[in-house]
Amino acid sequence: MRFTVAIDGPAAAGKGTISRVLAQRFGFAHLDTGLLYRAVGRRVMAGEDALVAARSLTAADLAGPGLRDPEVAQAASRVAVIPEVRAALVDFQRAFARSEGGAVLDGRDIGTVICPGAEVKLFVTASAEVRARRRFDEERVAGHEVSFDAVLDDVRSRDARDMNRADAPLRPAEDAIVIDTSEMSVDEAVAEAVRLVEARR
Ligand code: DC
Repeated sequence: MRFTVAIDGPAAAGKGTISRVLAQRFGFAHLDTGLLYRAVGRRVMAGEDALVAARSLTAADLAGPGLRDPEVAQAASRVAVIPEVRAALVDFQRAFARSEGGAVLDGRDIGTVICPGAEVKLFVTASAEVRARRRFDEERVAGHEVSFDAVLDDVRSRDARDMNRADAPLRPAEDAIVIDTSEMSVDEAVAEAVRLVEARR
Protein backbone atom coordinates (compact mmCIF):
# COMPACT_ATOMS: atom_id res chain seq x y z
CA MET A 1 0.00 0.00 0.00
CA ARG A 2 1.37 3.41 -0.98
CA PHE A 3 -0.16 6.34 0.87
CA THR A 4 1.59 9.66 1.43
CA VAL A 5 0.71 12.29 4.00
CA ALA A 6 2.42 15.64 3.33
CA ILE A 7 2.60 18.03 6.29
CA ASP A 8 4.00 21.51 5.82
CA GLY A 9 4.13 24.62 7.96
CA PRO A 10 6.40 27.02 9.81
CA ALA A 11 8.65 26.13 12.74
CA ALA A 12 6.98 25.08 16.02
CA ALA A 13 3.46 24.92 14.59
CA GLY A 14 2.99 21.32 15.72
CA LYS A 15 3.88 19.41 12.51
CA GLY A 16 6.37 17.15 14.27
CA THR A 17 3.94 16.03 16.95
CA ILE A 18 1.14 15.48 14.46
CA SER A 19 3.45 13.54 12.12
CA ARG A 20 4.72 11.26 14.87
CA VAL A 21 1.21 10.43 16.07
CA LEU A 22 -0.05 9.75 12.53
CA ALA A 23 2.96 7.50 11.85
CA GLN A 24 2.36 5.53 15.01
CA ARG A 25 -1.38 5.31 14.63
CA PHE A 26 -1.42 4.22 10.97
CA GLY A 27 1.91 2.38 10.86
CA PHE A 28 3.44 4.87 8.39
CA ALA A 29 7.15 5.54 8.03
CA HIS A 30 7.99 9.09 9.14
CA LEU A 31 10.58 11.49 7.74
CA ASP A 32 11.21 14.84 9.40
CA THR A 33 12.69 16.51 6.30
CA GLY A 34 13.97 19.45 8.36
CA LEU A 35 16.61 17.06 9.66
CA LEU A 36 18.11 16.81 6.16
CA TYR A 37 18.56 20.60 5.99
CA ARG A 38 19.77 20.72 9.58
CA ALA A 39 22.37 18.03 8.82
CA VAL A 40 23.62 20.07 5.85
CA GLY A 41 23.59 23.25 7.98
CA ARG A 42 25.61 21.57 10.71
CA ARG A 43 28.26 20.43 8.23
CA VAL A 44 28.44 23.95 6.77
CA MET A 45 28.98 25.32 10.28
CA ALA A 46 31.90 22.89 10.54
CA GLY A 47 33.41 24.42 7.39
CA GLU A 48 32.12 22.25 4.56
CA ASP A 49 30.64 23.39 1.28
CA ALA A 50 26.83 23.19 1.35
CA LEU A 51 26.43 21.34 -1.93
CA VAL A 52 29.17 18.81 -1.15
CA ALA A 53 27.44 18.16 2.19
CA ALA A 54 23.97 17.80 0.62
CA ARG A 55 25.25 15.32 -1.94
CA SER A 56 27.01 13.12 0.60
CA LEU A 57 24.58 12.95 3.54
CA THR A 58 24.50 9.63 5.38
CA ALA A 59 22.24 8.24 8.10
CA ALA A 60 24.89 9.22 10.66
CA ASP A 61 24.38 12.90 9.73
CA LEU A 62 20.75 12.65 10.82
CA ALA A 63 21.68 11.80 14.41
CA GLY A 64 24.22 13.10 16.83
CA PRO A 65 24.49 16.23 18.94
CA GLY A 66 23.31 19.70 18.16
CA LEU A 67 20.87 19.03 15.33
CA ARG A 68 18.03 20.64 17.30
CA ASP A 69 20.02 23.73 18.34
CA PRO A 70 18.64 27.12 17.26
CA GLU A 71 21.94 27.98 15.49
CA VAL A 72 21.67 24.80 13.44
CA ALA A 73 18.05 25.67 12.60
CA GLN A 74 19.17 29.05 11.26
CA ALA A 75 22.02 27.42 9.30
CA ALA A 76 19.47 24.94 7.88
CA SER A 77 17.20 27.78 6.79
CA ARG A 78 20.17 29.48 5.06
CA VAL A 79 21.32 26.42 3.11
CA ALA A 80 17.68 25.69 2.21
CA VAL A 81 17.70 28.82 0.02
CA ILE A 82 20.25 27.23 -2.37
CA PRO A 83 18.39 25.51 -5.25
CA GLU A 84 21.18 22.94 -5.85
CA VAL A 85 21.06 21.89 -2.20
CA ARG A 86 17.30 21.37 -2.42
CA ALA A 87 17.68 19.45 -5.69
CA ALA A 88 20.23 17.10 -4.11
CA LEU A 89 17.69 16.10 -1.45
CA VAL A 90 14.67 15.51 -3.69
CA ASP A 91 15.18 11.88 -4.78
CA PHE A 92 15.68 10.58 -1.26
CA GLN A 93 12.51 12.31 -0.04
CA ARG A 94 10.40 11.10 -2.99
CA ALA A 95 11.57 7.51 -2.57
CA PHE A 96 10.78 7.71 1.14
CA ALA A 97 7.30 9.06 0.37
CA ARG A 98 6.54 5.88 -1.58
CA SER A 99 7.56 3.58 1.30
CA GLU A 100 5.58 0.35 1.38
CA GLY A 101 2.89 0.70 4.06
CA GLY A 102 2.59 4.47 3.73
CA ALA A 103 4.65 7.48 4.77
CA VAL A 104 4.27 10.84 6.44
CA LEU A 105 6.77 13.57 5.60
CA ASP A 106 6.86 16.93 7.32
CA GLY A 107 8.67 20.03 6.11
CA ARG A 108 8.09 23.20 4.11
CA ASP A 109 7.61 22.06 0.50
CA ILE A 110 6.28 18.50 0.75
CA GLY A 111 2.80 19.20 -0.64
CA THR A 112 3.99 21.78 -3.18
CA VAL A 113 7.22 20.28 -4.60
CA ILE A 114 8.26 16.91 -3.16
CA CYS A 115 4.90 15.10 -3.22
CA PRO A 116 2.34 17.13 -5.19
CA GLY A 117 0.32 13.92 -5.58
CA ALA A 118 0.17 13.12 -1.85
CA GLU A 119 -3.13 11.54 -0.78
CA VAL A 120 -3.40 13.93 2.20
CA LYS A 121 -1.88 17.41 2.40
CA LEU A 122 -1.99 19.38 5.61
CA PHE A 123 -0.65 22.85 6.31
CA VAL A 124 -0.16 23.20 10.06
CA THR A 125 0.32 26.74 11.27
CA ALA A 126 -0.08 29.08 14.26
CA SER A 127 0.68 32.72 15.00
CA ALA A 128 4.38 33.61 15.43
CA GLU A 129 3.73 34.59 19.07
CA VAL A 130 2.10 31.26 19.92
CA ARG A 131 4.89 29.30 18.21
CA ALA A 132 7.58 31.35 19.96
CA ARG A 133 5.84 30.78 23.30
CA ARG A 134 5.87 27.01 22.74
CA ARG A 135 9.55 27.05 21.77
CA PHE A 136 10.37 29.27 24.73
CA ASP A 137 8.59 26.91 27.15
CA GLU A 138 10.42 23.88 25.69
CA GLU A 139 13.78 25.63 26.05
CA ARG A 140 13.01 26.56 29.64
CA VAL A 141 11.97 23.00 30.51
CA ALA A 142 15.24 21.81 28.96
CA GLY A 143 17.06 24.15 31.35
CA HIS A 144 18.23 26.65 28.69
CA GLU A 145 18.40 30.34 29.56
CA VAL A 146 16.64 32.17 26.72
CA SER A 147 14.60 35.33 26.40
CA PHE A 148 11.15 35.26 24.84
CA ASP A 149 12.09 38.14 22.51
CA ALA A 150 15.12 36.27 21.20
CA VAL A 151 13.00 33.20 20.47
CA LEU A 152 10.35 35.35 18.75
CA ASP A 153 13.04 37.04 16.61
CA ASP A 154 14.39 33.62 15.68
CA VAL A 155 10.95 32.36 14.64
CA ARG A 156 10.22 35.50 12.62
CA SER A 157 13.55 35.58 10.79
CA ARG A 158 13.27 31.91 9.86
CA ASP A 159 9.66 32.41 8.70
CA ALA A 160 10.72 35.34 6.53
CA ARG A 161 13.60 33.43 4.93
CA ASP A 162 11.56 30.26 4.40
CA MET A 163 8.55 32.10 2.93
CA ASN A 164 10.41 34.55 0.72
CA ARG A 165 13.01 32.35 -0.97
CA ALA A 166 12.63 31.92 -4.73
CA ASP A 167 12.89 28.12 -4.80
CA ALA A 168 10.19 26.07 -3.03
CA PRO A 169 9.04 28.80 -0.61
CA LEU A 170 6.96 27.83 2.40
CA ARG A 171 3.31 28.10 1.42
CA PRO A 172 0.24 25.84 1.50
CA ALA A 173 -0.42 23.73 -1.61
CA GLU A 174 -3.65 24.80 -3.31
CA ASP A 175 -5.35 21.60 -2.17
CA ALA A 176 -3.86 21.54 1.34
CA ILE A 177 -6.13 21.61 4.38
CA VAL A 178 -5.00 24.29 6.81
CA ILE A 179 -4.96 23.46 10.52
CA ASP A 180 -4.34 26.58 12.62
CA THR A 181 -3.20 25.35 16.03
CA SER A 182 -3.02 28.82 17.66
CA GLU A 183 -6.06 28.13 19.78
CA MET A 184 -6.05 24.34 19.77
CA SER A 185 -4.65 21.87 22.24
CA VAL A 186 -2.18 19.28 20.96
CA ASP A 187 -4.88 16.62 21.34
CA GLU A 188 -7.37 18.63 19.29
CA ALA A 189 -4.88 19.23 16.49
CA VAL A 190 -3.86 15.57 16.41
CA ALA A 191 -7.51 14.42 16.42
CA GLU A 192 -8.27 16.68 13.45
CA ALA A 193 -5.31 15.29 11.49
CA VAL A 194 -6.28 11.68 12.32
CA ARG A 195 -9.83 12.38 11.16
CA LEU A 196 -8.61 13.82 7.84
CA VAL A 197 -6.33 10.84 7.16
CA GLU A 198 -9.06 8.36 8.05
CA ALA A 199 -11.43 10.11 5.67
CA ARG A 200 -9.01 9.49 2.77
CA ARG A 201 -8.12 5.87 3.49
O1 DC B 1 11.48 21.81 10.27
P1 DC B 1 12.80 22.39 10.81
O2 DC B 1 12.59 23.52 11.75
O3 DC B 1 13.68 21.33 11.37
O4 DC B 1 13.56 22.97 9.49
C1 DC B 1 14.79 23.65 9.56
C2 DC B 1 14.94 24.51 8.31
O5 DC B 1 15.12 23.67 7.16
C3 DC B 1 13.76 25.39 7.96
O6 DC B 1 13.85 26.66 8.58
C4 DC B 1 13.82 25.48 6.45
C5 DC B 1 14.48 24.21 6.03
N1 DC B 1 13.54 23.23 5.45
C6 DC B 1 13.17 23.38 4.14
O7 DC B 1 13.56 24.35 3.51
N2 DC B 1 12.38 22.44 3.55
C7 DC B 1 11.91 21.40 4.22
N3 DC B 1 11.14 20.48 3.61
C8 DC B 1 12.26 21.23 5.59
C9 DC B 1 13.05 22.18 6.19
